[in-house]
Amino acid sequence: MYRSHNCGELRSSDITKEVTLSGWVQVSREFGGLTFVDLRDRYGITQLVFNMEDNEALCTQARSLGREFVIKIVGTVRERSNKNPNRPTGDIEIEVSALEILNPSKVPPFTIEEESDGGDELRMQYRYLDLRRGPLQRNIKFRSKLALETRKYLDSQDFIEVETPFLIKSTPEGARDFVVPSRMNEGQFYALPQSPQTFKQILMVGGIDKYFQIVKCFRDEDLRADRQPEFTQIDCEMSYITRDQILATFEGLTVHLFKELKGIELAPFPHMSYDEALERYGSDKPDLRFDMEFIYLNEQMQGHGFNVFDGAETVVGIVAKGIADSYSNKDMKGLTEWMQRPQIGAKGLVYVKYQGDGSIKSTVGKFYSDDVLSTIGTQIGAEKGDVLFVLSGEEEKTRKQLNELRLEMGRRLDLIKEGDFKPLWVIDFPLLEWDEVSERFHAMHHPFTSPKKEDVERMLTGDHATMKALRADAYDLVINGSEIGGGSIRIHDRELQQRNFDLLGFTKEEAQAQFGFLMDAFEYGAPPHGGIAFGFDRLAAVLNGQSSIRDFIAFPKNNQGRDMMIDAPSPIDEEQLKELSISLNIQE
Ligand code: AMO
Repeated sequence: MYRSHNCGELRSSDITKEVTLSGWVQVSREFGGLTFVDLRDRYGITQLVFNMEDNEALCTQARSLGREFVIKIVGTVRERSNKNPNRPTGDIEIEVSALEILNPSKVPPFTIEEESDGGDELRMQYRYLDLRRGPLQRNIKFRSKLALETRKYLDSQDFIEVETPFLIKSTPEGARDFVVPSRMNEGQFYALPQSPQTFKQILMVGGIDKYFQIVKCFRDEDLRADRQPEFTQIDCEMSYITRDQILATFEGLTVHLFKELKGIELAPFPHMSYDEALERYGSDKPDLRFDMEFIYLNEQMQGHGFNVFDGAETVVGIVAKGIADSYSNKDMKGLTEWMQRPQIGAKGLVYVKYQGDGSIKSTVGKFYSDDVLSTIGTQIGAEKGDVLFVLSGEEEKTRKQLNELRLEMGRRLDLIKEGDFKPLWVIDFPLLEWDEVSERFHAMHHPFTSPKKEDVERMLTGDHATMKALRADAYDLVINGSEIGGGSIRIHDRELQQRNFDLLGFTKEEAQAQFGFLMDAFEYGAPPHGGIAFGFDRLAAVLNGQSSIRDFIAFPKNNQGRDMMIDAPSPIDEEQLKELSISLNIQE
């Protein structure tokens, strides 16, 4: 027997019991004739004590233990003289009578404690060591519970979990596909699914009615803290369903998960149209944990001889409270430079300081008298101590830039309270996006998304300009500024689907070759249907107030898409290439 108890469970009530424990040596300390060892497993840490006077051989053996040695001990639970209130097992220790080294360990390349001294890459290379650390242990356990509670809720709502294939044909979700060569079909490739989108729609035609799957998706796209090349979705689809029923079902799932996993009761989620989100916050995923809404200032600030504003499509600002006196010229310069970085690309940053003593200081004081600025201040509710920041230019670009400033000021002013969750549904997205460069429409969500009912006729018959104004029956779930999920009501008839492919620039033949199976299926009694997918990794991170999904994935990839532990991707040998009929032509 390796263990009678785990390293997290012994308490005062166990004193005098003889126990067997196994685990890793976290640290050992020597105190005169005593040696203390912290023994760790998944459940916690228990202190072992060895006494030179009682058993010299055993104590000498204990002194030879290195960090991360795997050991088994037998001993007696006794009260600790020097209790540790920060540890659940802190009232007791084990007086060891037998010690067996099950496996020694090399010195680990970083410390395996709550806070590690290892860098990201090193921790990923030695993921098995990182996984032993408390934070990762908790995250992985949390993820398991999140999947379990998701299944419980969806099962209670009559959903059926169905697995869909990984070796498929490309589904356009906006990223590149990862492809897999087929040995048996020379020169042909499978694509790994960017999502099970077409299969779940086919399942609706197949009468499954309510489908879900916790499923891996694969996207070859630029990676960021909240994006991995392989990630997991809670993917769902329903038949005979309206948008509002879908939103209610998945708001229900979200509420259930917050309650079960965090003990948090969420208030009903507000709905906000895409247009409104952009107008008020400059983002289709606004962080509603703080206000700082956009204030449009064209009327107030144009026509005063300041050319930059006068010639701009949009003049828009935000008010940052209480920093007029504390933000020095140097701070303002720093902020302006931050806004001018290429990632944001603002030309400059205009500010008006409504200072505590009632005076006004502004970068554009030459063009606006104090009276004018004071009137503007009153109109927009700026008080003494506040700063009005103003940007101008082309509407879409300017809003995006101001969104970045709003988020930055939210962080700087500590407006984001830990443990605060502000979900919302963003609805009524545009159906199509015009790309100036390729001179083509792109599907804003994906090509299977239905226009809103009132827009169907216009889509079938309208001209180019009409297409830009079409609204989709699509929605996103946003929590704390992070896009957690997205979905839509789907097109379920062949003619409309064909029209959508036309608009997206597919020829009839291309559409038939790529998606003929779906359009054919639509001709055999496809029920009206719709669905949604949540990003499972993102949901896990957001529920824990974190923005990086890596630490919620057991084996993540780095920003170059590499698995540092197994060192993938890697070349394959000639023989394998030949079998796959692939010849490489790599320029050195
Ligand atoms: P969408 O492309 O919006 O929709 O994806 C759904 C959710 O998946 C998460 N997500 C990601 N998470 C981590 N890494 C990535 N690279 C990544 N890409 C997306 C996001 C996102 O909201 N088939 C449709 C859903 C539908 O219409 O039902 C789809 O995949 O949280």
